[in-house]
Amino acid sequence: MCGIVGYSGKRPAAPALLAALARLEYRGYDSAGIATVFGGDLHIKKGIGKLEQVEENCSLSHLPGNSGIGHVRWATHGGVTTGNAHPHCDCEHYIAVAHNGIIDNFEALKRRLSKTHTFVSQTDTEVIAHLVEEYLEPGAPLEQAVGRAVKDLKGTYALVVASPVEPGKLVACRQGSPLVLGIGKGETYVASDFQAFLDSTRQVVFIEDGEMVVLTHNLFHIYGRDGKRLRRPPVMLDNSLVKAEKEGYDYFMLKEIMEQPDAILATLRQDKQTLQKAAGLISRSRNVVFTACGTSRHAALIGRYLFSSVAHRLSDVIIASEFGYFGEAVNEETVVIAVSQSGETADVLEGVREAKNRGAKVLSIINTVGSSLARVSDRVLYLGCGPEISVAATKSFISQLVIFYLLAFTLAGRLEEATGELARLAAEIKENLAANNYAVPEVADLLSGKDKFYYIARGINYAVAGEAALKLKEVAYVHAESMPAGELKHGTLALIEEGTPVVAITPCDVTREHMLANVAEVKARGAFVIGVSDLPNNLFDAFVEVPQVAEVYYPLVSIIPLQLFAFYSAIARGLDPDRPRNLAKSVTVK
Ligand code: G6P
Repeated sequence: MCGIVGYSGKRPAAPALLAALARLEYRGYDSAGIATVFGGDLHIKKGIGKLEQVEENCSLSHLPGNSGIGHVRWATHGGVTTGNAHPHCDCEHYIAVAHNGIIDNFEALKRRLSKTHTFVSQTDTEVIAHLVEEYLEPGAPLEQAVGRAVKDLKGTYALVVASPVEPGKLVACRQGSPLVLGIGKGETYVASDFQAFLDSTRQVVFIEDGEMVVLTHNLFHIYGRDGKRLRRPPVMLDNSLVKAEKEGYDYFMLKEIMEQPDAILATLRQDKQTLQKAAGLISRSRNVVFTACGTSRHAALIGRYLFSSVAHRLSDVIIASEFGYFGEAVNEETVVIAVSQSGETADVLEGVREAKNRGAKVLSIINTVGSSLARVSDRVLYLGCGPEISVAATKSFISQLVIFYLLAFTLAGRLEEATGELARLAAEIKENLAANNYAVPEVADLLSGKDKFYYIARGINYAVAGEAALKLKEVAYVHAESMPAGELKHGTLALIEEGTPVVAITPCDVTREHMLANVAEVKARGAFVIGVSDLPNNLFDAFVEVPQVAEVYYPLVSIIPLQLFAFYSAIARGLDPDRPRNLAKSVTVK
């Protein structure tokens, strides 16, 4: 969370920084700011709200100069105020810092510095600017002061510093938060994600933990933890990573839902050997544990089911933030399957590092190339579904499922069977989406006044219910709870009253009969039942039809109308589904 960017070049910096921040907004959008260096001074503007609002109110893009830094914030320390927005400065307004991460020891540092420095914000970040000020010596390079300052920091950071002390120079450091350089013609960028500058350059250099980089418009020097200069040539990103435009849609969320058939096909293009090696890791292990958060965890729950039903392997799924509490049981015979769209989720990374320390092997399933998770894993399978911008994950979920089908069927020695069926399904889903075959906008409108929803399902579809409920909570701000349908009678049934919406995923599979019995139970108590199925039933008040498929594939077809339902529920309530309140796409804090 939080996105940082720095630019040094020949063009005006502020518009370049603003464009880059717009592509980082998925990381935070409660406030934003830019600082540029010009005429021997720092020029700073910042404000609260989404980037376009801040630009409208403060004209960030009019700041002068050819170098500067920018930030989009997701508040951790200090409320959402202009004073807490980044960049932050030292006492003399001579050093500007943009930071992503959390400085754990900021209170102690602030106490120490407060004797001689004046603090104006509640943030942890501000201590960095004052530390650099403290260490800056006349005539000495800026990087020397930044290098000393970061030695005092405990916690996580990707930070970038600009100062008129050396106009055109930026100094950036990384410890636990992502940082990547973009090397253009006569200009350089540093950012939390290469998406920030992809319209200017695709030549990138990934920065590792403990490293510092010094940038000017035409050079970049990387230094290791020991202060020694490192040589690392840029790599060229391929075209498939560049697809972060709305392409005619009003919202990324809808665009990404509609892209799902292509996402299935893209994820199917796995290198067979890599897939076999990943499956080998699993088959040689004694214990298989998935770790993930949010949507990726729901995908993992379906993965667990597939491993059991297709490959006859028992496994467990542990929420990443809870993973550490199970550490004692992790050893050399464990394979940890870390599932993360971004590959930057702090809780996932921490669990994986701990598992590695205990001798476990790590197989990661990631979308973002070059992410931190990729670099600490033994093996990686990439989703390849292209950048996902909407905070609410959709196409990455579908692609994660595809990976689990591929792994489960590889383990069972039936890979060809799965690839054929998945390709056929992709075509069928595409047809349904194109023909607008899911009648969800009408149902979303009808139920737009309801403030609690229940999602029920059984077996492999249960995790779909969880994911569908999460989507509704995230983008429509409606309380939604999911549960295995059989569990209703153990408490939640007490909450069902006249008109309570209950979404029942009831395909014609092994769960159908029992599901219908549970649907009858809620119906008898007045529930309004939305049946998601390939077969209508009199018990359903609204019917969302999905194609009939072989049992294990129902999650792929049933989640899509429910993602659309969440999307249209947000629209019906006048909300922006791409930027839900309080959330961010990449959660780099614990
Ligand atoms: C955040 C996002 C979710 C996402 C979760 C895990 O909460 O808002 O959409 O599912 O993080 O992210 P990851 O990148 O690890 O899959």
